[in-house]
Amino acid sequence: MTTIDRERLSGLMERERALFRERHPRSRSLFEAGRSSLLWGVPMNWMVRWPGDHPVYVAEAEGARFTDVDGNTFVDFCLGDTGGMAGHAPPAAVDEIARQASRGITTMLPTEDAAWVSGELARRFGLPYWSFTLTATDANRFAIRWARHITGRPKILVHNHCYHGTVDETFAELDDAGGVIDQPGNTGPPVPVVTTTRVVEINDLEGLARELEHEDVAVCVFEPALTNIGIVLPEPGYWEAVREICDRTGTLLLIDETHTLSAGPGGATRAWGLAPDLLTIGKTLGAGIPSAAYGMTEDVQRRIVEAVDPDVIDVGGTGGTLAGNALSLAAMHATLQHVLTDDAFERMIEVGGRFEDGVRDVIVSRELPWHVVRLGCRVEYLFRPEAARTGAEADAGQDAELDPFIHLYLLNRGVLMTPFHNMALMSPSTTGQDADRHTEVFASAVDELLGESGGPS
Ligand SMILES: Cc1ncc(COP(=O)(O)O)c(C=O)c1O
Repeated sequence: MTTIDRERLSGLMERERALFRERHPRSRSLFEAGRSSLLWGVPMNWMVRWPGDHPVYVAEAEGARFTDVDGNTFVDFCLGDTGGMAGHAPPAAVDEIARQASRGITTMLPTEDAAWVSGELARRFGLPYWSFTLTATDANRFAIRWARHITGRPKILVHNHCYHGTVDETFAELDDAGGVIDQPGNTGPPVPVVTTTRVVEINDLEGLARELEHEDVAVCVFEPALTNIGIVLPEPGYWEAVREICDRTGTLLLIDETHTLSAGPGGATRAWGLAPDLLTIGKTLGAGIPSAAYGMTEDVQRRIVEAVDPDVIDVGGTGGTLAGNALSLAAMHATLQHVLTDDAFERMIEVGGRFEDGVRDVIVSRELPWHVVRLGCRVEYLFRPEAARTGAEADAGQDAELDPFIHLYLLNRGVLMTPFHNMALMSPSTTGQDADRHTEVFASAVDELLGESGGPS
């Protein structure tokens, strides 16, 4: 197996940093200008996590491409970390968004789009009742609150190395001895997370049964496959067994489809025939206009209605003034009806397959101890030989030197990946040629790392 020479890697990284500085003078000066008034110098703290000394400032974005303020153009496989999965500014959605904006954005009253959107989500995901929020974080937060309320149980359970948004109870992980600890960087937790949360590895059914036997968990909050630590797929039979253990222990099952929507128009829930009690989704639903939703079974809906006093529903801890607003619903209607359609998913998944094949060819032909994994139109490569089976294994496949190098090398050649790991997402506008461009630049990065070719282009 081929190994990477770390000294060469560090030299190449220096060269790429210099190249980045040379090609982004205007981004640099905009970054400097914001430093005296923006926390961390950026409008949202994650934006410091891009490779290079500062983020690239965007001038405009359309379809699967954007142009930065220095005139560089990019093929965008990050797509706003899924917020832009519908492609940037898709005309069918933009027209409807503009039309609705000119007729009123928010009134805290429903508009005609509400029934269509909830009906369409029911068709796609198989859950009959829906409510809206502005972010997937809030969808998870509210669904968890309802779950605790109707079960009378205090805790939740999550997979090790999960991410479900900025939800206090989910910032938990396992230590080496299997104990529950706060995730590194958990900011200002109200209580140690071990008091609210149990954690098991994905694919660990024995662990799940053991933890749920305490019968203090209201709801398991799970992605169908982990997507925030690389992609970790479930083993055959996993979800049937999870359902059975949840039923046996009286635990609700929440499936978070925010990223796994990549599996198809009804996410992994439809593609794999999952049977959740609650389902959350957000990010891309409104083509980037803040929009998210949570759905539930008939039974969960009935239990909520029976357990809630409608006179205090506005102060009970679910909902929000802007949630379900007219603009958000119009954006979801247009996006689901015209952009993220069943046909579009077919094409996106095909392009995802081409991206995956390209990466695999490079890995195999160079005998690298790496692998690539795909979930519909989402593809990820990890620096370990086989697909990870657990969050901990996937975590061990991250490489603090290689990750930023590959990102920066690609970025310097007009290919943008998701910043925190090597993830690529296809939109309806992403083409096979875009996938091939990634393969070409990825191959060139690898060959330079192996000392088999040289020079920027
Ligand atoms: C699976 C999953 N759920 C929920 C969220 C939260 O989304 P948002 O930050 O838009 O609230 C994320 C964000 O990355 C996510 O990956």
